Amino acid sequence: MRLLHIDSAITGEQSVSRQLTARIVRDWLAHHPGTQVEYLDLAQDAPAHFTLDAMAPRTGQTDGLSDAQQRENAVSERLVRQFLAADVVVIGAPLYNFTVPTQLKAWIDRIALPGRTFRYTAGGPEGLAGGKTVFIASSRGGVYSTTEAGRMLEHQESLLQTVMGFFGVTDLRIVRAEGTGMGPEARAQALADAARASAALTRSAASNQDRLAQMA
Ligand SMILES: Cc1cc2nc3c(=O)[nH]c(=O)nc-3n(C[C@H](O)[C@H](O)[C@H](O)COP(=O)(O)O)c2cc1C
Repeated sequence: MRLLHIDSAITGEQSVSRQLTARIVRDWLAHHPGTQVEYLDLAQDAPAHFTLDAMAPRTGQTDGLSDAQQRENAVSERLVRQFLAADVVVIGAPLYNFTVPTQLKAWIDRIALPGRTFRYTAGGPEGLAGGKTVFIASSRGGVYSTTEAGRMLEHQESLLQTVMGFFGVTDLRIVRAEGTGMGPEARAQALADAARASAALTRSAASNQDRLAQMA
């Protein structure tokens, strides 16, 4: 089994989402100790913004690629292969300015590739990356999950749910610490809630994977 551990927070040692992804991976390994873990730190090593040079896999152009196009294709290819090879993906996703960090959006832009993670059919779009378990480690300064107005304001969890759903992922689990900017008590409570969620969600996801493996 392969697990891809992704961080995107820019906040280094202080990062809440990094703490959460580390916890989820640790909890997962307690159930599946043989899992091979690959790590991607998007704050250190993000793909460049999506540009015309990176568009060839979407336009279908294969001939006459410039050096820049070939270079950008290689970046997208490395990232999409890494994503497709993973059985479990843990995505550290802090809320910055109402959405995900720009580094994480750049990663999404590279793995959203027709024929690889989705395709368009006569019946509409079809996801090609199903069968994975995806954990979102969500950290937020404010509280958004408890009201309709809050849920309308955030474009972080909702974006990742939409994108992963578009790729065919049906097993998506959110470990959330929110209200991290609302004082030390609220932050401690948020971290404790997230730790409990991580333990429960990794347990149920791991037994789900075991059941699928037995059926295969
Ligand atoms: C650049 C930046 C933008 C932020 N924007 C928001 C925001 O729009 N809404 C919010 O509730 N918190 C916001 N916050 C607070 C973070 O969501 C909160 O500190 C969270 O714990 C960040 O996760 P991290 O510690 O992994 O970086 C922002 C923080 C940073 C650094």
